[in-house]
Amino acid sequence: MTTYILGNGSHGRMLREMVGGSCLGPEDDLPEDATDVFVGVGDPALRRKIWENNIGTEFSAFLMADFLDYGTVLGEAVHVMRGCIIMPGVTIGSNTLINTGAQIDHDCIIGDHCHIAPGVIMCGDVHVADGSFVGAGAILTQGARIDEGSFIPAGRLVVGGRRVDSRTSDAKVGEEGC
Ligand SMILES: CC(C)(COP(=O)(O)OP(=O)(O)OC[C@H]1O[C@@H](n2cnc3c(N)ncnc32)[C@H](O)[C@@H]1OP(=O)(O)O)[C@@H](O)C(=O)NCCC(=O)NCCS
Repeated sequence: MTTYILGNGSHGRMLREMVGGSCLGPEDDLPEDATDVFVGVGDPALRRKIWENNIGTEFSAFLMADFLDYGTVLGEAVHVMRGCIIMPGVTIGSNTLINTGAQIDHDCIIGDHCHIAPGVIMCGDVHVADGSFVGAGAILTQGARIDEGSFIPAGRLVVGGRRVDSRTSDAKVGEEGC
């Protein structure tokens, strides 16, 4: 098995510590011997770009959480880092990263190519649409709705019943988003 991680920043290097193999630049071509390939960046836009630049590649999932008995619905190549809590009825879209220690409560729906950063708390029935970034330690209370491509800063409180979209969120992910 020849393992490659597309991403050579802090997140990619951390992933390499856990799965082995080599880090490449996010937009590098995959070598022909690649058998096990991971998306290794935190920025949702770059995660999506890597995914779309490599159509036909079967990216690997990375699941460290102990939650699969709860009927979680997972898309392709979902990454869930250590210490996450995922409660029943959750759906996580393809190529989404749930980072260290995030808590995703019942019936949340998270789209494709998202990054839910370390320590986020999502109460029940929160929906986060494709390509969104939820910053470290943000709290999204029951029923919050995050529109496609949104950026929620670290530590932000989003109260349920409010809608946040990319026009009202106010910043961009850093180089690595992690
Ligand atoms: C929103 C964000 C992009 C702002 O970054 P920035 O534009 O570089 O902010 P600045 O450094 O210019 O900070 C301006 C001021 O706002 C404060 N500030 C910055 N981000 C803040 C945040 N999320 N919440 C509260 N205050 C914040 C700073 O402390 C600073 O205050 P000061 O002038 O009193 O010192 C950044 O804070 C953020 O949330 N990034 C996401 C980080 C993250 O979750 N990473 C996940 C890693 S895996």
